[in-house]
Amino acid sequence: MNNLKVFSGSAHPKLARAICEQLGVPLGAAKLVRFTNENIKVKIEENVREADVFVVQPSCPPVNEGLMELLIMIDALRSASAARITAVTPYYPYVRSDKKDEPRISITARLVADLLAAAGANRVLAIDLHSPQVQGFFSIPSDHLTARTLIVEYFRKREDLANHVVVAPDAGEVKDAAGMAKRLGVPLAMVDKRRFGDDEKARAVHLVGDVRGKRALIIDDEIATGGTVIESSEFVRREGALDVSVAVVHPVLSGSAVSRLRAATAITEVVVTDTIPLPPEKQDPKFTVLSVAPLIAQAISRIHDGRSVSELFA
Ligand code: R5P
Repeated sequence: MNNLKVFSGSAHPKLARAICEQLGVPLGAAKLVRFTNENIKVKIEENVREADVFVVQPSCPPVNEGLMELLIMIDALRSASAARITAVTPYYPYVRSDKKDEPRISITARLVADLLAAAGANRVLAIDLHSPQVQGFFSIPSDHLTARTLIVEYFRKREDLANHVVVAPDAGEVKDAAGMAKRLGVPLAMVDKRRFGDDEKARAVHLVGDVRGKRALIIDDEIATGGTVIESSEFVRREGALDVSVAVVHPVLSGSAVSRLRAATAITEVVVTDTIPLPPEKQDPKFTVLSVAPLIAQAISRIHDGRSVSELFA
């Protein structure tokens, strides 16, 4: 495959630049124009003919604007004769809309997969999709990375690791949390969390396992409103955990999540990754941010060379 090129939409240029730094390539030049009628125009400002192109655009506010921008960039690259276009969506748009769990509802994560392919994407590269079935939505090849390995490495450095317990904040997280507990060599517990209807507030109902006298590591794929991790943290503290650290891959941090996390005395530390940008107003000394740039750069390099991506996690 010819030249490797990395472009960025306006969602997370900092991450795109960090990926380019790791790969030793310059960030591709593109101009984005927003007209007064809210239409978007993209102009690719360098030759991409027969190039292997990666477009970095995680989903973050404004979500719909960012998605449209990504589709238009892909379309422009296709028209400019790129040989292969990979949509790099570290946080995949509409990832939680992945099943028909109510009658007559949209499955928007699948619609996004169709839109990416229709725009001209030949591959998709994503990190920690909310559920594995999303991989089956793509008619084009997809690579699904996990940043949980970064979180494991981070906590492995704790001197009193033996006194920790990994806690899954709901049943959906048990499999991944169990894998992390195994890699850390610590036990696993689970909070039985329930959501009632469209109510975004999650409620902890029971604890499976033992947290008494231990330091709890609550693991999840994302923090949206913060309800799940805050409710689970308070619950495990009441069940006797010494302290609570929370680690999630995607800091969605919607609504008043940041102020709620700041105020949550049950939580000592929040570890996240930079799949989604954290603007200054969302930063806090309680937050530790691990970068996924080296992981994405390695995956891009392997895709470009035709080497295995799964070997990254062997
Ligand atoms: C849900 O199944 C996910 O794994 C997360 O637990 C959820 O997205 C977190 O949402 P919130 O922060 O609003 O409770």
